[in-house]
Amino acid sequence: MYVALADELSSLVKAGKLKSGDRLPSVRRLMTQRGVSATTAIAALRALEERGFAVARPQSGYFAKSAAPLALEPDASRPPSGPKNVGIGELLMQVIDASLDAQIAPLGAATADPSLFPARRMQKLASAIARRQPRVLSHYALDYSGADSLRRQLAKRYLDIGCHIPTEEILITNGCTEALNLALRTVTRAGDTVAVESPVYYVMLQTLQNLGVKALEIASHPRHGLQLAALEAGLRGKEGRRIKACLVSTNFSNPTGATMSDADKRRLVRLCELRGVALIEDDIYGDLQHSGPRPLPAKAFDESGNVMLCSSFSKTLAPGARIGWLCGGRRWRALGSQKLASSGASAVLFQEVIAELLKSGGYERHLNKLRTTFARQVQHMSSAVERHFPEDTKISQPDGGFVIWVQLARKVDVLQLFEMARNEGVNFAPGPLFSASGRYQNFLRLNCGQDFTPRLESAVRTLGELACELRRRTPK
Ligand SMILES: Cc1ncc(COP(=O)(O)O)c(C=O)c1O
Repeated sequence: MYVALADELSSLVKAGKLKSGDRLPSVRRLMTQRGVSATTAIAALRALEERGFAVARPQSGYFAKSAAPLALEPDASRPPSGPKNVGIGELLMQVIDASLDAQIAPLGAATADPSLFPARRMQKLASAIARRQPRVLSHYALDYSGADSLRRQLAKRYLDIGCHIPTEEILITNGCTEALNLALRTVTRAGDTVAVESPVYYVMLQTLQNLGVKALEIASHPRHGLQLAALEAGLRGKEGRRIKACLVSTNFSNPTGATMSDADKRRLVRLCELRGVALIEDDIYGDLQHSGPRPLPAKAFDESGNVMLCSSFSKTLAPGARIGWLCGGRRWRALGSQKLASSGASAVLFQEVIAELLKSGGYERHLNKLRTTFARQVQHMSSAVERHFPEDTKISQPDGGFVIWVQLARKVDVLQLFEMARNEGVNFAPGPLFSASGRYQNFLRLNCGQDFTPRLESAVRTLGELACELRRRTPK
């Protein structure tokens, strides 16, 4: 109840209906107006403060705080038309290598602080399950589609949010990465083209490169996501026939944090169906809204089974377990045979642990805390960028997930910034990683998954100073 109340108050602040400095309803008023207990009212106000939408003033109560950064949002993308062969491998390895180095400030890979996940609870569940079901480790897991318990829990969760997915269409995978690979391999061949939103998560580009498939980058807006008119133009264009799939992150996309509206998701599903193009949806951040209800995946609007929904628990619960899933729609049998050949079954013990957490409601309770934490961390990071970066910097304002997309002045070379920052012990994901055509030379993605400690503040300050130095060196 307190989360619902905090969500409602957050939306009032976000929509500007409660302005910065406005007094928020007192605990007593919330109790009488909303019929909630004092504990619920206090918890809601505290959650609001944690999310960065309120400040407590001693003896005076809570006051609204506008969480929206003053900086503008980055520009909508305008990628070139025409499919491109992808080649981002070396730069990607540099970012990942730096992410493995504990001495380097972790603003690069999109990883959350390990302390945010219920590791102790999962350890206990794992040993209880291994004792109760000794077969879980000693028997060959022949069912490549995954543990029934987990598949049923996933189907139930989807039903709870208004999305009917039959259990048999759900395939458990080794992370979202394997799900995306299986989906792509099932519908494309070398030489084909896949339409991707631009900017796009770099491993998707790497996967296309490995498959010998070209990427057609489609314009997207930093708040509203993939631009359907641009996709339509691409499908009608002279290379349109070669487009076999469209790969989109509909909710809190990485790196922009954009979310498509339900109307756009519905149109996207129809358009792909009409044009005979498979829709591969990556919904890995969908459970991580900062407030309000969980956004629907495009899969919720899929009547013909053309959407393949990919996701995992890597961002929400257990990055080390490598458990993901793929809701295959009408291609579920072909996807199953790809999975069998790709890696056989995924580790059953972890699947059982997660199924139990879902069943007990523990996952949902954990998510409630995690969402508030990510909202706060994104807020801290955005404010720090505003404080330390050049004045004309633009920053995305995601409503979920834990990365921000930052646009510097046009002539600032972010690859140069990347080199300089690494020498100073700071990592980040440079913009060109997110494009098949080397775009976003003046953009960077910052990870907000870690606790915003003084060390991170100092890393952002260093990055900001370097960006200011490069900005000064470049003519307007
Ligand atoms: C958009 C997106 N999809 C997929 C993945 C990979 O997920 P997994 O680690 O479950 O393979 C990531 C991880 O950063 C991601 O950001």
